[in-house]
Amino acid sequence: MRIIHTGDLNIKEKMDQQTNEKVFKFINEIKDSDADLLVVAGDIVESGLEDDYYKAAEIFEMLSIEKVFIPGNRDFYNGGNVCFSACFYDLESALDLPEDPMTQRRNGNRPLIIDKEYILVGICTPRRDLSTGVIGHGQKRLTENTFKEYGINKYKILVMHHHLLPIPIGGLEENIINDVGDIIRMISDSYIDLVLTGHQHHPWASEYSSGVHNKHYTTILTCGSPTMDDPRGFRFNSYNVIDVDENSKKLNNAYVKVLTGSWSKEQMIPMNEFVKIPPQTKKDFMQSEFAHYL
Ligand SMILES: [Fe+2]
Repeated sequence: MRIIHTGDLNIKEKMDQQTNEKVFKFINEIKDSDADLLVVAGDIVESGLEDDYYKAAEIFEMLSIEKVFIPGNRDFYNGGNVCFSACFYDLESALDLPEDPMTQRRNGNRPLIIDKEYILVGICTPRRDLSTGVIGHGQKRLTENTFKEYGINKYKILVMHHHLLPIPIGGLEENIINDVGDIIRMISDSYIDLVLTGHQHHPWASEYSSGVHNKHYTTILTCGSPTMDDPRGFRFNSYNVIDVDENSKKLNNAYVKVLTGSWSKEQMIPMNEFVKIPPQTKKDFMQSEFAHYL
């Protein structure tokens, strides 16, 4: 299974020509890709406004690939949670199970997929008027119970907007999840295989194992932004491509795909190579050994 993992698109009703071009480059690359699933890890729109949401919904409708959306802090600006519910799915019932979870794989647009080979749960971490994130006791319990009941012998994926662990260039980390320790415990207790996050506008990969609690390793991936003007440490627009072997229930590889307007496997930087790239200017990158990926 191939997953495209993106976030922080910050779509607006009226975008300048450059951003507009980036959005359509991204859409065209996904159309040409051989991916099975698109995960959009929040900050879909710029500032939660109704017209921004209509524009975002119109853009994503161009893609026939299966899609998962979860909200980010920007999506809730200006009361945008109401618009999110209207355009994507009702946030209050986001994790309601399908009527017959044993045979019904998914219910509408909700961030809950109970596939034969994998289970994906997307949680809502933003709250109105805050840049920080939170899972909260109720959502934590619901998520744990879903993994426990329907995730047996499946590859387990958790999606959320706010990053789970600090990443380089993260600065003072004032926007991390307030009750992050509860999620750390949950990923150990539930043997979660893969966590997909956004918010930092910088691709990164970590592996986490409590080592004491259990020896299971969870891969944690953060994505860059395909459209924003100011991607951080890695200064090119990008998104992640993730290959999961459904038979062995293991991550085969993860890549950073730089946005160029064409879908090309030669442009995918393996994550274990990508993490060697230091924060640097575009100019310095173009003179580095990694420049051939562009
Ligand atoms: Fe964010």
